[in-house]
Amino acid sequence: MTQGLFITFEGIDGAGKSSHIDALAQALRDAGHTVTLTREPGGTPLAEKLRELLLHEAMDALTETLLVFAARRDHLRCVIEPALARGEVVLCDRFTDATFAYQGAGRGFDLGVLSYMERLAQTGLAPEPDLMRNPDLTLWFDVPPEVAAARLATARAPDRFEAESTAFFARVARGYAERAEAAPGRFARLDGAMAREQVAAQMLAAVRARGWLQGRA
Ligand code: TYD
Repeated sequence: MTQGLFITFEGIDGAGKSSHIDALAQALRDAGHTVTLTREPGGTPLAEKLRELLLHEAMDALTETLLVFAARRDHLRCVIEPALARGEVVLCDRFTDATFAYQGAGRGFDLGVLSYMERLAQTGLAPEPDLMRNPDLTLWFDVPPEVAAARLATARAPDRFEAESTAFFARVARGYAERAEAAPGRFARLDGAMAREQVAAQMLAAVRARGWLQGRA
């Protein structure tokens, strides 16, 4: 069966991941892949509406969690699974690791419930009915919360998450580290505090090491 590749980008706000996604998309296209670029929460008309609510309306951690998984389910069903079935590379800015990091570690939401919801939202859509869809690779832009906070300070008006404290982002960063420890084969940790070109080089090396950028220097 031709199945595509599912690559996700993760890191705390201010980690700088967004500026690297387009570069990887271009490198993969140059290597002959068809690339779908998308993001969470979002990626479908319904999920983009949920994103607006998540980023700007006050709500508790349970409501937040229900909305991110509702958005994810729609996104998987309408965009991610169809693209993978066509054999494309899907690059997704954030996925379920963000839920474990932000709602779980950041807000203190029950990790066992998150695991249950993860299974619920990510099963039953792939060609194999019992397969829980997971990323093939997660590029984790790891930066100290203080470095990220300094970058965010110069950015546009903060949303509900960006306005959180450095202590919140320290918990989120630990949440990512725990997810990476639990799935070391899936995660590639990139030192996001380095200069942009060095971070880009680390990212391309991680993808190349998996044999997905063959033909490039
Ligand atoms: P982000 O991806 O950082 O977009 P931008 O670059 O436009 O700011 O914003 C999405 C926000 O949503 C981010 O602060 C993290 C949060 N989020 C969660 O809390 N849980 C999730 O499951 C996801 C996917 C995102």
